[in-house]
Amino acid sequence: MAYFNRPSVDGDPDKPADPSLTTTSHHVFEDDAGKSVFSIAIIENMEEEYGLYVWPCSIILAEYVWQQKARFAGANVVELGAGTSLPGLVAAKLGASVTLTDDANRVEVLDNIRKVCDLNNLNCNIMGLTWGIWDISIFNLRPTIIIGADVLYENSAFDDLFSTVAFLLQNSPGSVFITTYHNRSGHHLIEFLMVKWGLKCEKLVDGFAFLPSQKASKLSGNIQLAEIVLNCGPVKETSLVK
Ligand SMILES: C[S@@+](CC[C@H](N)C(=O)[O-])C[C@H]1O[C@@H](n2cnc3c(N)ncnc32)[C@H](O)[C@@H]1O
Repeated sequence: MAYFNRPSVDGDPDKPADPSLTTTSHHVFEDDAGKSVFSIAIIENMEEEYGLYVWPCSIILAEYVWQQKARFAGANVVELGAGTSLPGLVAAKLGASVTLTDDANRVEVLDNIRKVCDLNNLNCNIMGLTWGIWDISIFNLRPTIIIGADVLYENSAFDDLFSTVAFLLQNSPGSVFITTYHNRSGHHLIEFLMVKWGLKCEKLVDGFAFLPSQKASKLSGNIQLAEIVLNCGPVKETSLVK
């Protein structure tokens, strides 16, 4: 399956998904010998609602979580813009305590997250969290790791996303935001907003660098994985591109 030919994303968030377009995909995670260790089933709907697909960034971030299993086991993880939630579910499978979040207005997406957790027998917290909105529940989140796949999607939402990320990083000292993003239009806005919100990129890797070949062969695009933390030093011009 090619993951890139998605329809437009201007769907009506209140419109129920067409059940005839619903499928279940299976995502296998293997040990170093290529032996399957576990599989996660994801309910997808190939309609316009973009929180109901497994985006390539999600496949790459899920693989990173799997490969960093020691780091995620026992971690307190919050996934932002989780959509179909593959990376967060892998973290839960590894023993992390996981909160899966998506836009509080996208009931369809939050309902699908509940179904996917049940399908995989994984017990995660699920909450509506709209970036840039300070609902009481966000103050109780103390993640050690924040994750987000393809959350840098719409330029108009970047500032709200970074405001939420900066808040969570400040609320939970020592935490890190790990994100995979599809570089669609250059890094300039991301760089500017990271400086604005007092963030810095600690690690930047090509998303395909650690992906097993059978997964990589189904994906394409310029996808980067970044680890972002609070910039505690003097704020200076930083660049995501090292
Ligand atoms: C491109 S999709 C990525 C979904 C999923 N992480 C993946 O990679 O498969 C972007 C996700 O961000 C969510 N989102 C968009 N704007 C948001 C906002 N303002 N607050 C919270 N979530 C938002 C969408 O509902 C959607 O699930």
